[in-house]
Amino acid sequence: MPRPELRLVLAVSLDGRLAPPVGGAAQIGGRGDRVVLEEALAWADACLIGGRTLRLHGCTCLLHTPPLLEQRRRQGRPEQPAAVVVSRLGRFDPALRFFQQPLQRWLLMPAATSAPAGFHAALPLPSWPEALAALADQGLERLVLLGGADLAGALLQEQLVDELQLTVCPLLLGGPHSWLPAGVALEPARWQLQEQRLLEGEELLLRYRRLRD
Ligand SMILES: NC(=O)c1ccc[n+]([C@@H]2O[C@H](COP(=O)([O-])OP(=O)(O)OC[C@H]3O[C@@H](n4cnc5c(N)ncnc54)[C@H](OP(=O)(O)O)[C@@H]3O)[C@@H](O)[C@H]2O)c1
Repeated sequence: MPRPELRLVLAVSLDGRLAPPVGGAAQIGGRGDRVVLEEALAWADACLIGGRTLRLHGCTCLLHTPPLLEQRRRQGRPEQPAAVVVSRLGRFDPALRFFQQPLQRWLLMPAATSAPAGFHAALPLPSWPEALAALADQGLERLVLLGGADLAGALLQEQLVDELQLTVCPLLLGGPHSWLPAGVALEPARWQLQEQRLLEGEELLLRYRRLRD
């Protein structure tokens, strides 16, 4: 089954947390992380975002860097990657800023039929391989997975993540919010380092690619 290339993009603390102990709308990364996040957005046709992350933040990440916007225009692509919201409930407050953002909004949920108000399209999620193949059929071939941990865990568990792009931030946070939720059991897999870059603010980009058997 054809499927898109999937890159998980997260900012994590030195102790592997993606949010502080109190949870909420976490901002772990600084300016260095913003640079590599935007590079990933410029690469992507669409971003997958978990329903909880969307509710907490109220919006998704947009590209702002003029040369990256110009590059996408030259390539004949939309300025912003589409946002694909993954949800079981499929219910979002229409007042969220997300619904005013200048991008295409898709909804991926188990029994989607038609697109609810505010979304351009809805696709069913019978299984992850089928849902990803359906996104590829729609021309969404490069996907950035923006988290959170619940969604990342589901896709990692099915071995569908091709690349990990982690910005390691110089913070120790403690608490329960590991970037892989407790209880997710993974098949042992090896990852090959593709890129390492020291970023502003002593942040470190690590990009790993999954080695296939
Ligand atoms: N540091 C970072 O880079 C970063 C990035 C992203 C998020 N975060 C933080 O992560 C936290 C949120 O993460 P989280 O793990 O609690 O939640 P999450 O992964 O963002 O969202 C979980 C929700 O996604 C939907 N979902 C997940 N797996 C699904 C599946 N297999 N099928 C259908 N729907 C599925 C469900 O949505 P419904 O509830 O709509 O049914 C579920 O409740 C926040 O603190 C946020 O700030 C940090």
